[in-house]
Amino acid sequence: MSYNRNLIDISDTLSAWYLANKRELPWRDISDPYLIWISEIILQQTRVNQGMSYYLRFIERFPTVADLACSEEDEVLKYWQGLGYYSRARNLHKAARQVMTDFEGVFPIEHADVLKLAGIGDYTAAAICSFAYDQPFAVVDGNVYRVLSRLFGIETPIDSGIGKKEFASLAQELISRSHPGIHNQSIMEFGALQCVPVSPDCLSCPLQPNCRAYELNSVDKLPIKSKKTKVSNRFFNYFFIELGGQTYLQKRVGKDVWQNLFEFPLVEADQLLTVEELMETDDFKKLFSRIGEVGIVKISNPMKHVLSHRVIYAQFVTVKISDENAILSERIKTPISEIDQFAVSRLMELFLEDSVY
Ligand code: ADE
Ligand code: SF4
Repeated sequence: MSYNRNLIDISDTLSAWYLANKRELPWRDISDPYLIWISEIILQQTRVNQGMSYYLRFIERFPTVADLACSEEDEVLKYWQGLGYYSRARNLHKAARQVMTDFEGVFPIEHADVLKLAGIGDYTAAAICSFAYDQPFAVVDGNVYRVLSRLFGIETPIDSGIGKKEFASLAQELISRSHPGIHNQSIMEFGALQCVPVSPDCLSCPLQPNCRAYELNSVDKLPIKSKKTKVSNRFFNYFFIELGGQTYLQKRVGKDVWQNLFEFPLVEADQLLTVEELMETDDFKKLFSRIGEVGIVKISNPMKHVLSHRVIYAQFVTVKISDENAILSERIKTPISEIDQFAVSRLMELFLEDSVY
């Protein structure tokens, strides 16, 4: 496809629609690349409504890249608690430190430099460079895939290598040379509000005369995805251990779900276990070895927690113990009333809200 008059018309129509219909959002119409970066990382996997309060709290605590860089990762994770996809927070923190060490504390301006920062890929680099500096890099997010696949009637799967290239180059052809920042905001907002995933209101759409999918009656079919995400089941049997008003936490390490968040000691198994079965496991025997009294106080209802690639089944067994052993003394011991100082998963939080707070 060539960069022709039709594409310019589309960009102009999108921008006119945007100016008339856009939401007023705190990260709009600003040019500080740091603030734009934070907002885009939050919004990548989070809805605007939920993201807003997190964004405002985050930038109040970490108003500049230097503030973020000199904080502790645990505190950044605490500010992220409940948002999910915690690697986003770990990468923000890491990238802030990169800005201090590799770019003298000044957020980079060159697209190639922005791409060097942890957690910043094509989408985020294009968003920052276009919104903050008006550089002509086209964003391609879920909204853009949807809008372009429909407008041009493209059936190439958006999650295939070839599809990614095709959509990226089309988006790049379509971008306005005179106001790339507004263009990018426009097409994303158009996807978020007008060309929505299910039953868009095509009759009121200013691009309907240009829309191939509308013409071919294939709006509901597009965009096309080839793969179904594989989902695995995990089974976490947690122990909420009480000893004189205190309890034990551990930090999740290793490349796995909830990396660097805190949780109760647990036995992971291929199913949720009964108390009798739990007591037979090596992990249980180790965890509670040489403890005078181990009283099972109660066992929570099973909980099902759905993440993007995993379904986690969990239960919480409340255990009262009379003294501590070497294994437990290596865990983090905290007053139960202070668990809220730690960054925990939404699953842990749900249990705590129900049973402890
Ligand atoms: N989603 C991703 N980036 C966004 C932005 N800047 N405004 C609204 N929604 C978005
Ligand atoms: Fe999207 Fe419908 Fe407009 Fe086509 S006509 S761009 S499918 S809202």
